[in-house]
Amino acid sequence: MNAHEAQHRIEELRALLHHHNYRYYILDDPEIDDAGYDALFRELLALEKAHPELADPNSPTKRVGAPPLPAFASKAHRQEMKSLDNVFDSGEWKAYLDRIRRLAPTSQFSFWVDPKFDGLAVELIFEDGRFVEALTRGDGQTGEVITENIRTVKSLQLDLNSVAHNNGQPVPRLLEVRGEVVITKQDFYLLNEKQRKIGGKTFANPRNAAAGSLRQLDSSVTAQRPLRFFAYGVGEVVWNDPTHAWTSQSSLMGGLRKLGLTTSDLGKVVSESDVQEFHDTMEEKRHELPFDIDGIVAKIDDLAIQEALGFTSRAPRFAIAWKFPAHQGKTKLLDIAIQVGRTGVLTPVAELAPIPLAGVTVSRATLHNEDEIMAKDLRIGDTVVVQRAGDVIPEVVEVVLEQRPENAKPYEFPRQCPVCGEKAVRLQGEVARRCVNMSCEAVRRQRIIHFVSKAGLDIAGIGKKWIEILVDKGLVTTPANLFRLDKMTLLSLSRMGSKSANNFLKALDEARAQADLRRFLCALGIRHVGERTAKTLAEHYPNMDGLSVVSEEELMQLPDIGPEVAGQIRAFFQSEHNQQLLIELKEVGLDPQSSSLVSGDESSQGKAPSPLAGKKIVFTGGLASMSRNEAKAIAEKVGAEVVGSVSKKTDYVVAGEDAGAKLQKARDLGVTILDLKAFLELVESPEESSTA
Ligand code: IVH
Repeated sequence: MNAHEAQHRIEELRALLHHHNYRYYILDDPEIDDAGYDALFRELLALEKAHPELADPNSPTKRVGAPPLPAFASKAHRQEMKSLDNVFDSGEWKAYLDRIRRLAPTSQFSFWVDPKFDGLAVELIFEDGRFVEALTRGDGQTGEVITENIRTVKSLQLDLNSVAHNNGQPVPRLLEVRGEVVITKQDFYLLNEKQRKIGGKTFANPRNAAAGSLRQLDSSVTAQRPLRFFAYGVGEVVWNDPTHAWTSQSSLMGGLRKLGLTTSDLGKVVSESDVQEFHDTMEEKRHELPFDIDGIVAKIDDLAIQEALGFTSRAPRFAIAWKFPAHQGKTKLLDIAIQVGRTGVLTPVAELAPIPLAGVTVSRATLHNEDEIMAKDLRIGDTVVVQRAGDVIPEVVEVVLEQRPENAKPYEFPRQCPVCGEKAVRLQGEVARRCVNMSCEAVRRQRIIHFVSKAGLDIAGIGKKWIEILVDKGLVTTPANLFRLDKMTLLSLSRMGSKSANNFLKALDEARAQADLRRFLCALGIRHVGERTAKTLAEHYPNMDGLSVVSEEELMQLPDIGPEVAGQIRAFFQSEHNQQLLIELKEVGLDPQSSSLVSGDESSQGKAPSPLAGKKIVFTGGLASMSRNEAKAIAEKVGAEVVGSVSKKTDYVVAGEDAGAKLQKARDLGVTILDLKAFLELVESPEESSTA
């Protein structure tokens, strides 16, 4: 091949690859497969290598990143990149309309409305249709030069000419396109998974991931990141033929699209009275969208009116952002409280300066466990980002390090139980630290609450509140002496009248009479023994005495009982404290005999509903220790409905390894997510899983 032929083929290959990029990334309609693309790509690489004099910075081969920069250069924007003013409700929106109507007396404005992307604002500069430079927004006047990083964004057309030509769209001599660099929620999730695997930095949200990926001095890192660009407007535009100039925001957006740039499919022109409807629809749809959006933007469609209205020092008058109520916000971490659960687990809870998030005032957030606090390096006094997604318990996302007080000390997780003061231990392989003192008041209180709860004997009418009062007054210290209460004692409690006291005692009597072995086993709260294991045990042993002498080996012969569960059962019976409790329970008339053994039927009489009963559950990803069918069977056994896809109606998503889209969707919809262990705990010991 001579030099001339090489040049011809190189140009042809570049055009072909640009075209296939466009089909793939913009139209989502590829004409060739990956192998076909790779072949063209490799041919171009080889030719460019043989002919370095024909190099082109916009060649498809140059999208893998350039040598790292020592620092970003900065550069002034030709036209300032201003911010946007916000409105938050229809009152403020109407006030905005009144304001602009005074300046541009028009009876009905038309608006171009599109989603407000939650990403990073950038400006891309094209000369004669060819990408030459990219800047971040910076302070609006000056931005950082991120040309090499933007070149790696695969969905971006670096040469607009051929697509423009095919669409009959003239190409401006100078075009400054403005838009947002974003990452999809799905890609964000996958990126974090990957980062976790390689021990790299994870990101708090898609916006941070996009920003962190874009602002890389080493653009080959950016090239690995699934960034996308959405155009929403322009800066300076110079036409060879001024009659080609766009006259409305809608024709401008259509023009950008015809040039091969990506714009949101959701944008459209509406009358001023329909802007609210667009806002409401987008708010409803936001969780289903692949990208995070934090509101909508409405711009006057007519560019002449836009120009007449002009700008304030801060923002355009012709455009406004109508934001959704925030799901995230910053507030102060006032303290970290430690709750002690039934099994002695110490659960940290963030106490926050109250902050309104999406319509609710949040003053506490879960911190999960000790490791979580360490990983986030949370310190009392820190300013933290708090998030409330859907109905999920509010979470602390991250610390705002810039706002850390100078004297903030690393948090030390208590080594002692905050209630009884005894040593709290962390067993190997467990994330939880526990108080192992069986007579710890907090543990005792939680155990009694569990004993009477739905997950235990399900004693209707004896709720958590009464147990707390009785324990606080020292009137009840074990599940057994609850059954020794008399009417006089009950009447001494404020707000307990004669009728309530009678009902209370009646409920205890009924529970005593109806308790079967299976419910009783659940009520005792033996670790790892929940609905399913209790049923198995009750089917094989006549009563507690029978069960108390069984060896671990024998227990392990039973279905679903492994060494760990068997060990916990044995340990329960070996504890002196528990032996004493069983004696006392017998004394108050609680020594249930197995109904399953006697009648041999599966009757559900007297059986409390499982907390999973009637719930919709989705399993996704590999569940490691059991098959999908086994998990399904377990869920169905306790009355749950196993469904295939995640929706707002889903109650739980049980996610195993490599869970992908369904997990992401669950996150987006705010559906409660469990791992297999948490799911089994919920099946077996609901009280513990629902604390925190
Ligand atoms: S128009 C002169 N449209 O929001 C008008 N901005 O909070 C300038 N943004 O800096 C902006 N989506 O980065 C516009 N559809 C959209 C947008 C959008 C996201 C960003 C933009 C701006 C910021 C202001």
